[in-house]
Amino acid sequence: MFIHIEDVSKNIGKRVNLRGWVYRQRSGKGIAFVILRDVSGTIQCVVKEDAKGFKDAQKASIESSVELSGKVRKDERAPTGYEVDVDEIKIIGESDNFPITEYQSTEHLLDVRHLWLRSRRLTNIFKIRSDVFGAIHDFYRSKGFFEIQSPSITATSCEGAGTLFELNYFGEKAYLTQSWQLYAEAVLPSLENIYCIAPSFRAEKSRTRRHLAEYWHAEAEMAWTNHDESMKLQEELITHIIKTVLKKRKKELLELGRDLKKLETVKPPFKRVTYNEALEILKKDGFKLKWGDDFGIKEEKQLTTHFDKPFFVTNYPKEAKAFYMKENPKDKKTYLCADLLAPEGYGEIIGGSERETDVNELIKRLKKQGEKIKNYEWYLDSRRYGSIPHSGFGMGIERLVMWICGIDHIRDTIPFPRTTTRIYP
Ligand code: 4AD
Ligand code: MG
Repeated sequence: MFIHIEDVSKNIGKRVNLRGWVYRQRSGKGIAFVILRDVSGTIQCVVKEDAKGFKDAQKASIESSVELSGKVRKDERAPTGYEVDVDEIKIIGESDNFPITEYQSTEHLLDVRHLWLRSRRLTNIFKIRSDVFGAIHDFYRSKGFFEIQSPSITATSCEGAGTLFELNYFGEKAYLTQSWQLYAEAVLPSLENIYCIAPSFRAEKSRTRRHLAEYWHAEAEMAWTNHDESMKLQEELITHIIKTVLKKRKKELLELGRDLKKLETVKPPFKRVTYNEALEILKKDGFKLKWGDDFGIKEEKQLTTHFDKPFFVTNYPKEAKAFYMKENPKDKKTYLCADLLAPEGYGEIIGGSERETDVNELIKRLKKQGEKIKNYEWYLDSRRYGSIPHSGFGMGIERLVMWICGIDHIRDTIPFPRTTTRIYP
């Protein structure tokens, strides 16, 4: 039976079988040191001349896969506190000269992403990412939400034509989906409270640290729910995810250099500031903006310097947001909507709103956007046959993971990032 390296500490003085990849290797006269890596950690293994397979240990190159057995010894000097005295070692798969050494350019690391993802850093991030997905599912299911999917190929645009990936669908124009939302709204009379985690696609022309062309989108849509109730659910969701990650992944967060205190303070309620208030803050900070301008990365980053927890920016001007949002009855120039911004410079991680129920208003806005109404008739039917008040929101999982891990580029939150300049590997 093989055990993982993290369980070695429970086996002091005993013989264990380990398997993994060679992280480092050095050999001297009559002795070889193999640092073994598996999903759970690394450990130094000492191979002496009389061990079976000593020659394999001597020639084991970086990233060769090996199996070994030996006795566990506690060793204060060893970086992980333990060592294994090997009595048998075997190379399973030899490794060519591994193309990654200590100092490498970002471009090179992206070229060999399929190999670089074995690094401790990316392994730690992917474990956290996995727990984030799990926590989202647990959260919605514990609240009785149903998980339901929508097509990835569509004829409609949810978030505006500017970021659509176009494709030829058997001779007809089609797009990769930007969001599950429009379909979700049509499903509400069937399932009432629903969610989905799926890829969304954005042909963002801007090269930034927080945009991917393909990202994972966790969306929810709730029947009989107003915008305030939706924001409360968002606070709860974020808090649940952070709590889960803090409980399960402290070690990984610390290895990534994350300041845990910054995450431990994340508890509801999150502050709500209106767009108008946010605009005033920014103007005071020297930004030249006029009413109606959307906030970009720079503006959001500046806003986050005023908050130490996630916070909502509510009631954006209509011209800054998508067609489906409900008009704010208190200020008809704005919507009942909010973006949730993560602190420490990260900015928007959730976009959400109450949805417009007036079918004629929706038609008017779609026409103004230059859309063909016939492509949206199915969507408009949700307002014609038993329309209800409803709200929903979408969370960018990579944006969230980026903030949780405290890292400075979104590409490291996903194994094979799709950016404007990269489709390989
Ligand atoms: O704000 P967005 O565009 O909202 C929607 O798509 C709504 N239809 C969601 C809904 O109400 N169901 O996108 C939602 C979130 C953003 O807050 C951001 O976190 C993420 O998706 N996002 C991106 N993440 C990575 N790369 C991109 N290019 C992203 N564009 C949006
Ligand atoms: Mg948005």
